[in-house]
Amino acid sequence: MDSSFSPGDRLTARYGQPVPWAPRPDSDAWNATLDALLAHRSVRKWLDRPVDEEQLLTVIAAAQSAPSSSNKQAVSVIAVEDPDLRRQLALVGKQMSSHIEHAPVTLVWLIDFSRGRFLAHREQAHPSEVSGGHGTAKRVPTDLGALDYIEEPMMAVLDIGIAAQNAAVAAESLGLGTVFLGSLRNDIDEVRRILGIPEDVVPFVGLEIGHPDPTENAGVKPRLPMDLFLHRDRYNRRDSAAGTADQTRLLGDYDDALGTYYSRYGSHPRWSHQLLNRLTAGATEKSKRRLLRDVLRRAGFGLR
Ligand SMILES: Cc1cc2nc3c(=O)[nH]c(=O)nc-3n(C[C@H](O)[C@H](O)[C@H](O)COP(=O)(O)O)c2cc1C
Repeated sequence: MDSSFSPGDRLTARYGQPVPWAPRPDSDAWNATLDALLAHRSVRKWLDRPVDEEQLLTVIAAAQSAPSSSNKQAVSVIAVEDPDLRRQLALVGKQMSSHIEHAPVTLVWLIDFSRGRFLAHREQAHPSEVSGGHGTAKRVPTDLGALDYIEEPMMAVLDIGIAAQNAAVAAESLGLGTVFLGSLRNDIDEVRRILGIPEDVVPFVGLEIGHPDPTENAGVKPRLPMDLFLHRDRYNRRDSAAGTADQTRLLGDYDDALGTYYSRYGSHPRWSHQLLNRLTAGATEKSKRRLLRDVLRRAGFGLR
């Protein structure tokens, strides 16, 4: 653990202001894992240095150690290291992911039910029988009907998020840097073409991994005040007069905290304005993300 930062330092950076409840370094509410989690920042500037193979494989093992919905493990990942493929991937997300070209590894996370599909085909070709109880035998089902429901791709995406975050935490614990890449969804078919991914497998998000360039002008980005994030026992609706005033104040505090952060790294609009811009239809419609339902349908998901 980098002991030059106390829990109070980490929490002050995370919220853009001191928190009154910061634990002591030797308290049982603090350890090296928490120190690494609280120190996270996305990295977009890389040293020209490869990621060690042993480290890469350990990071992948950490990803596979993540829990998986019903242990279906409907996730795969492509580790992209080839410089030409990195260059091509960098063009997919345009300015949001030009850094892919310089990251030694980009992990591309896939919704992948190919194991289930393979087993269903094999089972149809060579049926096996299992005990149906009371001395009876029954066929193993092969209809894959669950894939007609939106539940399956949603759960696969959740599994991807959990596994990829395990990879990110593992990489950061080794002193590497990471940044997620939703920008790959700007053109899923193009990502498929570049990486030879079949139509029934969906590349959903990327994760760059590499050695952070210490000259990058970036830091720990403050998050919303915990009072806006944490609800205790019941959802805290903020639609009463007092609640609305409270929310206005807390959001204003956050705009100020993020404004202070951004002023150190260049000028940016207020977070609240940024959020509203990103929630316009145009923000989705300007890329092929608007076609996601079509991509999922072509991949064999019914989305009922
Ligand atoms: C699902 C997801 C997709 C993201 N996509 C991109 C991306 O395409 N390009 C990028 O530069 N950053 C991307 N990010 C990084 C976020 O911009 C970043 O996490 C956020 O601004 C908070 O900053 P921090 O990670 O440094 O704390 C993504 C993050 C997540 C979780």
